[in-house]
Amino acid sequence: MRLAKRVENLPPYLFVEINKKIAEKKARGEEVISFAIGDPDIPTPPHIINKFCEAAHDSANHRYPEQNGLPELRQAIAGWYKKRFAVSLDPDTEILPLIGSKEGIAHAALCFINPGDIALVTDPGYPVYSVSVMLAGGRPYYMPLTEKNNYLPDLDAVPGYILKSTKLLWINYPNNPTGAVAELDFFNRVVEFARKHDLFVCHDAPYTEIAFDGYQPVSFMQANGAKGVGVEFHSLSKTYSMTGWRIGMAIGNAMMIDALKTLKSNWDSGVSQATQHAAIEALTASQDSIQTNNAIYQRRRDLIVEVLNRIGLEAKTPKASLYIWAKVPEGYTSMDFTADLLEQVGVAVTPGIGYGKNGEGYVRLSLTIADATLVKGLSRLSGWRNDRRLTSKK
Ligand SMILES: Cc1ncc(COP(=O)(O)O)c(C=O)c1O
Repeated sequence: MRLAKRVENLPPYLFVEINKKIAEKKARGEEVISFAIGDPDIPTPPHIINKFCEAAHDSANHRYPEQNGLPELRQAIAGWYKKRFAVSLDPDTEILPLIGSKEGIAHAALCFINPGDIALVTDPGYPVYSVSVMLAGGRPYYMPLTEKNNYLPDLDAVPGYILKSTKLLWINYPNNPTGAVAELDFFNRVVEFARKHDLFVCHDAPYTEIAFDGYQPVSFMQANGAKGVGVEFHSLSKTYSMTGWRIGMAIGNAMMIDALKTLKSNWDSGVSQATQHAAIEALTASQDSIQTNNAIYQRRRDLIVEVLNRIGLEAKTPKASLYIWAKVPEGYTSMDFTADLLEQVGVAVTPGIGYGKNGEGYVRLSLTIADATLVKGLSRLSGWRNDRRLTSKK
């Protein structure tokens, strides 16, 4: 038996080594404190859970769900976008609920890329963009995100010969893993660039609601003409602590939404209807939990940034997202540092190289660590010693 080449050719999972070390430590009975995963520890607000339970008791929700999402859900998404971003969307043609945004993101390339076509993706970046392009037979072209360019891609640096075969551009702000944000002027430039080179734009925006110090991230759909060139992927996962529920949405360009609808109607049967009812509740009821949770994340952010800088990493304070992107001390690669931290003090972080070549030299720490564990984690981080600096000074 031989597996399909498309699976065999997938890049190796870069966290395998670290995960093995974590498992070994745990097997020895040693506790590992993990800052590695961006998965809210704060539970889903009770009113959303109650709505789900109510809907689960209604036999109407035991049958196959509405394939393109309940009309009331698409209406609720339109109302939420209008209120939050002053963006108008047609619930029938410009909105499609997803089984978590990752599902839609992974399927997008199959709608917009032919074999051999190029997609522009960022490096570092959420790995699903490039892997899905490869699975569709396309080729990713990596645009570096660096501190110097505020982690925004330099669109003008993409060579003309690449643009000739490019069909799709992926962007993501607030950004995972760098925590960077983009403003409307950047999104306006993206629209112009996409028009000039006849590209589809996909903006991945699951972190627009996780923001600090009063900052309010913008939506790509607020850019002039955005709906003419692209779609935005959004999610209830981080906003309402619902990663386990699997519900998100694609909104924007009607032709692109229709393509996703057609593809998905052949492949899946939509989001469980009780979950759709919970999502309506989340989007239309009180939004107070967002501010409450952001205050918790902000406090954690400040504590983590302070400790990281104290032990010799360079960590900037992010305005949004669930992540701190920290430069490792000189003499360490991101993998070396991650392994050393785990070995010395039993703390797990994510090595930046896992997000692409330009992630080298960085690690990512997540804010989704429960307060009691955080205190322990910070005390362990404080105890980390830079052995390499000591050696070189001898
Ligand atoms: C940048 C980015 N996009 C998409 C997702 C997927 O989110 P969802 O739970 O909606 O599938 C994640 C999850 O961590 C993410 O970080």
